Amino acid sequence: MSQRSCLSIILAAGEGTRMKSAMPKVLHAIAGLPMVAHVVKAAEAAGATGLALVIGHGAEEMRKAAQKFAPKAETFVQETRLGTAHAVLAAREAISKGYDDILVMFGDTPLIDAGALTAARQKLAAGAAVAVIGFRPPNPTGYGRLIEEGGRLAAIREEKDCSEAEKKIGFCNAGMMAVAGKHALRLLDQVGNSNAKGEFYLTDIVEIAGAEGLDVVATEASFENALGINNRAELAEAEAIWQARRRREAMLAGVTLIAPETVYFSHDTEIGADTIVEPNVWFGPGVQISTGVTIHAFSHLAGTTIAANCEVGPFARLRPGADLRKKAKVGNFCEVKQATVEEGAKVNHLTYIGDARVGAGANIGAGTITCNYDGFSKFFTDIGEGAFIGSNSSLVAPVTIGKGGYIASGSVITESVPDDALAFGRARQKTIPGKGKELRERFASAAAARKKAAE
Ligand code: UD1
Ligand code: CA
Repeated sequence: MSQRSCLSIILAAGEGTRMKSAMPKVLHAIAGLPMVAHVVKAAEAAGATGLALVIGHGAEEMRKAAQKFAPKAETFVQETRLGTAHAVLAAREAISKGYDDILVMFGDTPLIDAGALTAARQKLAAGAAVAVIGFRPPNPTGYGRLIEEGGRLAAIREEKDCSEAEKKIGFCNAGMMAVAGKHALRLLDQVGNSNAKGEFYLTDIVEIAGAEGLDVVATEASFENALGINNRAELAEAEAIWQARRRREAMLAGVTLIAPETVYFSHDTEIGADTIVEPNVWFGPGVQISTGVTIHAFSHLAGTTIAANCEVGPFARLRPGADLRKKAKVGNFCEVKQATVEEGAKVNHLTYIGDARVGAGANIGAGTITCNYDGFSKFFTDIGEGAFIGSNSSLVAPVTIGKGGYIASGSVITESVPDDALAFGRARQKTIPGKGKELRERFASAAAARKKAAE
């Protein structure tokens, strides 16, 4: 089948009013990726070589977004929404390029699985002219019903056009179908709009193909595959299903999730075997984790790379550009941004490391801050191998701490420190014997005098 060329036409012209959003419906995200981009991924995984995106509402925003998630897609504008067949025909120019298979998909059906698409394409490879993806929803109301006769699909009847008997059919149209490229335009051009909604229904090509004596079949996919998103409650439902799938996949690939239902992945999270993820961890986009890593509870990661055997959290915040090398540790209430923490370095408590390098084996004391921003520009802090930064120090960038450098606690470091040097950047301590007691007595008698005066 891999030799067969395939065009995926993704319908996304709808307004999606029930989302109550300024943004086009299909750009709302699941696992951090627009739902229509999930559809694109499934199409590609099913072997689509061409992509046509039919847009209408919010066309400019859609075009701009598509450049990111589907740079090779051609976009076609459907000016007025006259039905799904009319929408497919907006991509006439793409269809007429002559693909073997045409896959029609919906931009608001993000959980469609490549396997369901491949199964439909296989029917085309075996000679069918149209293969419709069917499913059995718990409640069929609102869906088109698949009317089968002798193992072949005779028609799809939209709910509004169904007889009482047809409404009892549980096998429904998921919406998506595969159509043989050589028949597609001829079939679509015969679709009329004499139905309850006065729309040009894509589903009508089933009867049209049947009348031409062509072979039309239905395949069956799971309910999730056909879950269409119309409002934000359904968006959350799809997110939950996506997360459940991804967690299971991670666990089967050797990742321990202690409380899987509390761990959130992004569409592109990569996580290696023997990594342990404690409860309530959030993986934003762009996270890559190697093997044997421990992510303690309540950590928040995005745009981060973590090498083998590192330890993170609890309550760590790793922001874009954080790059932890082997066996590095970033502990509780630490934030790391655009910084490399080299092999075996430790950033264990209450620290901010931004725009910096922490050399191998260095130890960053509690409360250390890299002061990277002057309100206008960002500056770099370079901490050498094996350096020791005493607790509660401020490293005012740009600044370099040499290899093996030693910073006294509570320092404000504004000048670079050479290798193996010790730097103090704080006032010297003065200790006056007996003065504490004297102060205490003086303050106590002053307070007593004030109290008496107030009486
Ligand atoms: C469609 C199917 C129905 C199926 C259901 C599954 C048809 C005629 N009916 O019904 O059998 O059970 O999906 O969810 O196909 N769109 C456009 N332009 C248009 C019309 C629609 O781009 O002119 C897009 C919509 O944005 C949406 C998709 O096509 O993404 C489906 O359209 P919708 O109106 O939701 O179809 P349904 O009535 O749900
Ligand atoms: Ca719909």
